Amino acid sequence: MMKKQLFAKKSLRRLLEEMAGEDRLHRVLGPVSLTALGVGAVIGAGIFAATGAAASGTAGPALMVSYAVAGITCIFAALCYAEFASMAPVAGSAYTYAYTTLGELFAWIIGWDLVLEYAVGAATVANSWSGYFQSVLRKFNIELSPLINKSPWLYTEDGNLALTGSIINLPAVVITAIMTAVLVKGIRESASFNALMVFIKVAAVLFVIFVGAFYVNPENWQPFAPFGWGGVTLFGHPLPGTEMNLANKPVGMLAGAAIIFFAYIGFDSVSTHAEEAKNPQRDVPIGIIASLIVCTVLYIGVVAVLTGMVPYSSIHQEAGVSSAFAEKNLPWADLIISAAGVAGITSVLLVMMLSAPRVFLAMARDGLLPQKFFADIHPKFRTPWKSTIGVGVFVAVLSGLLPITALLEMTNIGTLFAFVIVCTAVLVMRKLDPDLPRPFRCPMVPIVPILGIASCLMLMLSLPAGNWWRLIGWLALGLTIYFGYSRYHSTLGKELRGELAVHGATPAGSPHEKR
Ligand code: ALA
Repeated sequence: MMKKQLFAKKSLRRLLEEMAGEDRLHRVLGPVSLTALGVGAVIGAGIFAATGAAASGTAGPALMVSYAVAGITCIFAALCYAEFASMAPVAGSAYTYAYTTLGELFAWIIGWDLVLEYAVGAATVANSWSGYFQSVLRKFNIELSPLINKSPWLYTEDGNLALTGSIINLPAVVITAIMTAVLVKGIRESASFNALMVFIKVAAVLFVIFVGAFYVNPENWQPFAPFGWGGVTLFGHPLPGTEMNLANKPVGMLAGAAIIFFAYIGFDSVSTHAEEAKNPQRDVPIGIIASLIVCTVLYIGVVAVLTGMVPYSSIHQEAGVSSAFAEKNLPWADLIISAAGVAGITSVLLVMMLSAPRVFLAMARDGLLPQKFFADIHPKFRTPWKSTIGVGVFVAVLSGLLPITALLEMTNIGTLFAFVIVCTAVLVMRKLDPDLPRPFRCPMVPIVPILGIASCLMLMLSLPAGNWWRLIGWLALGLTIYFGYSRYHSTLGKELRGELAVHGATPAGSPHEKR
């Protein structure tokens, strides 16, 4: 019985019935709006903030290639996501796909991992929001007290944690609290608000590329790869071609790709809008892939300009893009880009903090988490308010206390792991159920999923080794909760044990006739 439950799947028929039972969302989004939503969720802290540190300390001008490598990795994963999204075009993203295709245990692992992506990702974004916001304040000669302006710890050059003298990163906590309040009240992420944010962000990025191009000095691109082209380690042991820095962290083009991978996170959120798409089978894959291509092109342009404007070693660590313009005596441009950066980063934070409670909500509805807390909908605002507040507190604590590097690397490894599972799931499903209708088919299977798995693993191995231990710790905690709680409370499990009337459970190994 136990093994049966671990691999028991939720049938697609049941999923569609559940969807019909809830208030359906309006199908209003076409391919252009879906692409805009993707771009809105993607462009943010990664390009505006993380790029500076990655260019100056990890990859140099070769960061342009790092962005291309990370973009291609995401395209492999995106094609696999798109196949799943077209098979089960309902809200819930990879967690729901895994439940209908791979079974309960994998669904749990991926759901738990998505929470890591969205909640720790939100903490990373809140932290860099603080850095960018303070750089705007500084332009008006406002300086926050050093007791409240950054995390209490930072990583020193030799990789140890040192005290900064600050008690808390207060701006990060405050923006998280504001976002939590907004989300509890349930301002719907309206298409027009998103369109405005996308417009501001894309305008800022195009501004950087076209104005910055006039200030490029090609000599700054030499040497092109001062830290080498490598970056792959095996749990802390460098492979041939990989150099390590003083902190014993890998450097080089691939190590840069592993860090700025963060800049691409969010394109998968297009798949959570499947329920609102006019023609999900066609438009969701288009939205996912088009937003990725747009972002890849824009990112490479920004990095080319940034590393051409300023020698890589003197690029500002926290607000690299805007500071490059300040250095060229263009304070107005610096101000415009900083303000657009703050707006852009805020909208990404909103999407991430919106997503984490929704993954919890989906898991709680299936009985895998306590429903009273995680699936409690506010009577007036109609939002999952308790879990939104729970996630808000978690994000506030992390972003207020931890250094950005630790948060960023943790988000990346969690997301890369989710992509590995999604690519594997496409391969497994093609074998297990080759005839299932797939309105969008990932091209060149098995090559594309295998390349997706290989490139995600390569980037995971290019992250400092400590991240693997943190990921394993997170998964161990998740599995403890699964085997200690979820297994007994799972609705599907109860049905299999005969405690509830059976309603569409598909035990492992049985054909999909219930669909
Ligand atoms: N891709 C998102 C950002 O860079 C997470 O802010």
